[in-house]
Amino acid sequence: MNAPTVQSAFLQRFSIEPDITVRAPGRINIIGEHTDYNAGFVLPAAIDKAIWMAAGRRSDGRFAFYALDLNEFFISENADTVFQQQFKWANYLLGVVSEARKDGLQIGGLNVAFGGDVPLGAGLSSSAALESGAMFIFNELYGLGLSRMDIVRLAQRGENNFVGMKCGIMDMFASVISREKSVVRLDCRSLEYAYFPFDTENYSLVLIDSGVKHTLVDSEYNTRRAECEEGVAVLKQFDPHISSLRDVSMDLLLQHESQLRPVVFRRCKFVVAEIARVEQACAALEQNDFATLGRLMLDGHEGLDVDYEVCVPETNFLVEQARRFSGVAGARQMGGGFGGCTINLVETSVMDAYLDFVRTAYEEAFGIVARVYPVHLTGGTTRV
Ligand code: GLA
Repeated sequence: MNAPTVQSAFLQRFSIEPDITVRAPGRINIIGEHTDYNAGFVLPAAIDKAIWMAAGRRSDGRFAFYALDLNEFFISENADTVFQQQFKWANYLLGVVSEARKDGLQIGGLNVAFGGDVPLGAGLSSSAALESGAMFIFNELYGLGLSRMDIVRLAQRGENNFVGMKCGIMDMFASVISREKSVVRLDCRSLEYAYFPFDTENYSLVLIDSGVKHTLVDSEYNTRRAECEEGVAVLKQFDPHISSLRDVSMDLLLQHESQLRPVVFRRCKFVVAEIARVEQACAALEQNDFATLGRLMLDGHEGLDVDYEVCVPETNFLVEQARRFSGVAGARQMGGGFGGCTINLVETSVMDAYLDFVRTAYEEAFGIVARVYPVHLTGGTTRV
């Protein structure tokens, strides 16, 4: 997929040239999982897998969206944005319209043709790319004067309030604000961010797609959020300054273990440790210390598995192979959990051998041929 393909699809479908074409990338996350909705840190980056969107204004106020990859076409009856039952994907675009209007932003009608190569259900945030890409387009075509961070927030609100998934800010942020050859640390409390160059010949990142995606992801995700909130509510009684797990130290948490339900204690323990790991990872990156970075990823995976309980046998197996293979600095399950991809930090010189090894082992164990995606870090959402 590329810009010319969506542009010609647009021309064919709407019989007019698009006003704008946008590239909205998917994302990875080096470390900092389930920390965004706990006001902690994350360390994501946009990648060279993206959604391409060609778009143009419509004078009748309606919304017409053409999904090339699915060959599905949606058009609203009028300017009112109602939840779409038939084409669920249309809700990603309608959600930002709905939220923008709550803020009094003057959004008019839109034609869009889009398609991409972000694998679906692999945890690379294709939906966040589409949401923020749509908001980016409205901002450009209707002169809304939004900052990039405004676009991120509106896209997240669309997902939270319209689509109904209570995700944090990481995915939209990474899709919109990333910079080429860098990862970006976001403080999800202050929304301050800093880029860390990730530009090395010696180590490469690769995603290994377990090919499994359990359907309970959304409900389990919301349960984890609730458990974290329960932890905060209890711990607050001992220190009124605590408003999120970001404010909780490991010492304080351990002191109050007996006051928390065991499952809530374990969830909090993971999050508090994971927030600290992001800071350690950034320090390691500054030193080009990939061995330490890899170890932190492995520790993070263990926490996701044992304390946060969002791993599955397939991703555990993949990470286990990474541990065993000399030259792999680290690996972990990436994203919300229950399948999707593992992210692997690998010495470039052993990459081919490692991928052969892990794919063979995985196929033998689970009968699944794992797809692999080499990762190149790109800039965020742009006009092309
Ligand atoms: C999903 C959510 C993100 C984040 C991750 C876990 O991708 O959309 O906001 O919470 O899970 O780190």
